[in-house]
Amino acid sequence: MASETPEPECFFVSPYADLLTHNRFLLTLRSQEGRYHSLILFRLSSVGEQIDARSYHTPNEGLPTSHPYNQLYAMESTCPHLGADMSHAEIEECETGIVAVCPWHRYDFDLRTGHSETGLRACTYTVQVKEDEEDRIPCVWIQSPEQGSKWRVLERRGISEEFADPVKAKLSEESATSNDSISEQAGVEPIIPLDGEPTTLIQWAVLILNTPNPTLKVQRTQHAVHLFRTGKLASIGHKNKNPPIPPAVPPREENYTRNTVDPRKLAKRKNAAVMLHALANIEQWAIDLAWDIMARFGPSHPDIPPAFFSDFARMALDESKHFSLLVSRLAALSPSTPYGSLPVHAGLWESATVTSTSLRSRLAIIHLVHEARGLDVNPGTIERFRRSGDKESVATLEVIHTDEVTHVTTGHRWFTWICERDGVDPVSTFREEVRCGWRGDIKGPFNAEARETAGLTREFYEDLHGEMDQLAVQNQESQQTAVERASADVTVAYEAGK
Ligand code: FES
Repeated sequence: MASETPEPECFFVSPYADLLTHNRFLLTLRSQEGRYHSLILFRLSSVGEQIDARSYHTPNEGLPTSHPYNQLYAMESTCPHLGADMSHAEIEECETGIVAVCPWHRYDFDLRTGHSETGLRACTYTVQVKEDEEDRIPCVWIQSPEQGSKWRVLERRGISEEFADPVKAKLSEESATSNDSISEQAGVEPIIPLDGEPTTLIQWAVLILNTPNPTLKVQRTQHAVHLFRTGKLASIGHKNKNPPIPPAVPPREENYTRNTVDPRKLAKRKNAAVMLHALANIEQWAIDLAWDIMARFGPSHPDIPPAFFSDFARMALDESKHFSLLVSRLAALSPSTPYGSLPVHAGLWESATVTSTSLRSRLAIIHLVHEARGLDVNPGTIERFRRSGDKESVATLEVIHTDEVTHVTTGHRWFTWICERDGVDPVSTFREEVRCGWRGDIKGPFNAEARETAGLTREFYEDLHGEMDQLAVQNQESQQTAVERASADVTVAYEAGK
């Protein structure tokens, strides 16, 4: 499909038909120069499937205002008051037009003009529907947030549901059942602690980090993010006096930390189970990493914008979804080896410890080395499951891979933000962080396409070698990425099973 910009100030979003899955979308944009914007695209019409493919501009000439093409609105994803995430804003019709009501303090912003009765003004953007010249289908374009730059959509995420498509929804139901059984076994505490409910996002983060049971960790993550997004938790708390301190290492229930089975002794049928188990373990640590970056670095960076917390809260929710999907798939594939019955490791947290005093280092090593390595390895893992005919696991891993690209994007976004704040060059600073915080080569082969989508161009990672002092890490094995470790686990198991 041709995606030439019809006017210099617009960027291509998608065919209109692709927007019929949800009523609102979070769009993550990046400019040619590497700047980011997040927009919410609202589609307020529930009609749309029967629209003629004609060419229109906004205002879509000759069409009534009620026409679905005139029911598209775009605005910046953060509230201009104190930075709330507007993705869960209520939409209301009033005398002057349609307004989005911020979930935190209920300021309302006209979706067309951005004006609010409070005097504040949100950034809103014109949406156009144009017929694509080649495919003759209506496509959606939005006014660029900054003039003179080319912008592209890195991610278009449907907002109305946490599990956006039927595959995810089905897997989510399965995971709920599987998680319930883990909860019953564990006899865990309630989601809201008996000794009082956290009142800030940072308090929730520390509570979740100190939650040893994985199912309760997932449930508390879902609950806290929901509260945060819907305005029931309107305080981040990173500027408060005496914020709670995150644990050096998040505790784990013994059942989920001891090695109980030698993977080489597993029968061939269990090889996939070993892999799913290893990946679920990584996802459990990844939930903690998303909360830890907020709790550990939020208070020491009071200038960091609320969008940082929105991004990492979304990441925590994604990781909890991944964990649930993998545990569910593991339970379905191999009921005799539920999560917690196979060997696990804490390789990912060893890098978290190494980077616990520097946000820049944390973003570089965890999100742009470990997570980026996941982008390289995932396609091979998916292919292995595909060859074995395991379509359900393929579906699960594809969901995870798509999300992981956006997580590396988040890492890149905030790494470049902090570099800009500090007046340093992102590429050379990243390479320096890796030299100091990593031992050994940044290994390929690289999934250059997925890395580039996430913002990691080749100059970031090619010919890069870590030289971290031996004393900084006690165990050299920890420098093997967690994903590679999982891959190694399954390779051993495959070979043992042959
Ligand atoms: S009204 Fe949106 S953050 Fe206060």
